[in-house]
Amino acid sequence: MKKIYLDHAATSFPKPECVKKAVVDYMTNIGVNVNRGGYESAYNTASIVYETRKQLCELFDFPKCENVIFTENITYALNFILKGLLKSGDHVLVSSMEHNAVMRPLIQLEKQGVTFSRISCEKDGELMVDTMESFVKKNTKAVVMTSASNVCGTHMPLEKVGQFCKEHGLIFIVDSAQTAGVFPISMTKMGIDVLAFTGHKGLLGPQGIGGFLVKDEVANKMEPLITGGTGSLSDSEETPDFLPDKFEPGTLNLPGIFGLHASLAYLKEIGLSTIQEKEMRLLKQLLEGLGTIKGVRIIGKDGIENRSAVVSIQCDFMDEAELSFVLDQEYGIMTRVGMHCAPNAHKVLGSFPRGTVRFSIGYGTEKEDVDAVIQALKKLQTKS
Ligand code: ALA
Repeated sequence: MKKIYLDHAATSFPKPECVKKAVVDYMTNIGVNVNRGGYESAYNTASIVYETRKQLCELFDFPKCENVIFTENITYALNFILKGLLKSGDHVLVSSMEHNAVMRPLIQLEKQGVTFSRISCEKDGELMVDTMESFVKKNTKAVVMTSASNVCGTHMPLEKVGQFCKEHGLIFIVDSAQTAGVFPISMTKMGIDVLAFTGHKGLLGPQGIGGFLVKDEVANKMEPLITGGTGSLSDSEETPDFLPDKFEPGTLNLPGIFGLHASLAYLKEIGLSTIQEKEMRLLKQLLEGLGTIKGVRIIGKDGIENRSAVVSIQCDFMDEAELSFVLDQEYGIMTRVGMHCAPNAHKVLGSFPRGTVRFSIGYGTEKEDVDAVIQALKKLQTKS
């Protein structure tokens, strides 16, 4: 049975050939560390790391490549940012659609005296920007927000929120997991102070590499969450206060960075607009097809405006867990089911505690894959 992968919001698959080749090349032919060895291959490896920082600056329209910090993934990046920045007495604003990568660190920080308020969202996940003012307190320090919901795809109005943060002197932190590599993100135009990213979703790189881009003003206020050897200032036991070393202790994930370097070049060659156009075309096909099946309810927006190619559904004719199982076992269609690590988003969308079956489209998805989903659901509906 042909397998149809529709879980790109969890991780993109398959990866471009050039990404696999770059990881294997590094492991096979290079293999050395950076910032430590006094030999040519160490310098060459360091230059790929530097180039990858530059590629990320170009992608996210950010001026300083030494302020690009690599971490294992976006969850680590968000932990670094939130736990490094927030102190007892600080208050932050979040959207009501956040993933646990934001919420769990904040819940943990609550025990240390940090508080947060959730900005309300409409039933389709749209942020109620006009209500933001009412949540701001004297001690509000930052706004932390996903760029788009991983449950229903609704985009957050980053430019408006960035403007709001500027007017109120707040730090704007964005979790780009669901849009980076598909939709353009300009830290400069959107007024983003810290952008967390992951390499393995829309950026099409390997797992295990992510990070954040941070403005100097914010980096200066942050404590490093983890410290250790950096290969710099080795005559001192103090952590360097310059970037990226302040936030990059220990050996970097170099196979991951080489893979990301290749995937970013691949994305540039194809162009985000081509990727976005394809995903939106398939999203339209999927939404229209789902709309013709009795007993299928789309959770969130049922049109393609202001959203990513992530579609959550509930069915009258089958339990969600069973549906996801049957789609995989009988039709080879791979989906994600449940809460998607975003319980409050489901509360907003009206799908809590039941959860949803989620189809997430990627650049590798084809029209026939979407046809197969619609056919499968039609058959299941008829059988029921
Ligand atoms: N956050 C990822 C997802 O939505 C893992 O599946």
